[in-house]
Amino acid sequence: MTTPPATRLGGFTLPVGDGLDLVLAEPRLAAPLHSLLLANLEHLQPWDELARPDLTLEEFRGVQVRACQAWVEGRGVPCVLRLDGRVVGALGSRTVADGTTAELGFWVDAAHQGRGLVSRSVRALVRHLAVDHGIRTVEMRIAAGNVRSRAVADRLGFALVQTVPGVLTIDGRPHDLCVHRRPALGD
Ligand SMILES: CC(C)(COP(=O)(O)OP(=O)(O)OC[C@H]1O[C@@H](n2cnc3c(N)ncnc32)[C@H](O)[C@@H]1OP(=O)(O)O)[C@@H](O)C(=O)NCCC(=O)NCCS
Repeated sequence: MTTPPATRLGGFTLPVGDGLDLVLAEPRLAAPLHSLLLANLEHLQPWDELARPDLTLEEFRGVQVRACQAWVEGRGVPCVLRLDGRVVGALGSRTVADGTTAELGFWVDAAHQGRGLVSRSVRALVRHLAVDHGIRTVEMRIAAGNVRSRAVADRLGFALVQTVPGVLTIDGRPHDLCVHRRPALGD
């Protein structure tokens, strides 16, 4: 889905390279991202609590608006992944603890898995968080059985620092929660 042209927030674009970039997940991008999310339900539902068949565009736009408000207030950086101008996934951070730790979340279109798009994008976002947002530690909280997501964490040098049994419920299923962490700089 091609990105709509007009921008209202005047956000940012972080070039990742080879046609891949990260742009602020403005509300104008809610429609293409919502369509992609619904097209990927089977792939996303086991791991992402937002991925439900009854998720309306209005509800999803509300999530985007709140994420952009958080960005304006310095509490997070919500991004859309674009490849050659087309929306292929999402990646975002949420500032936690004392304001120097950021938690990361991401998903990509099933047909775009296995190409390094997410790992390369996470690397670029982490650099941006360190340089422009004063983030010193980055964290991923991942269901123990989410092999692909945990492989992203391993690939980027995140250490497994804690496993908490049974505290995560997604799509009605309980999971052990794995906390992966690393310094934001030092890639
Ligand atoms: C988790 C998720 C985003 C990972 O996607 P992914 O495609 O495996 O991750 P990447 O885009 O980093 O691609 C990595 C793959 O590309 C390969 N690759 C190719 N070029 C690469 C490069 N330049 N850099 C890194 N990896 C590269 C890697 O070897 C790896 O291959 P493999 O899958 O055969 O092991 C995806 O599976 C997903 O959307 N899952 C559902 C939602 C979800 O779980 N979100 C996380 C919740 S915590």
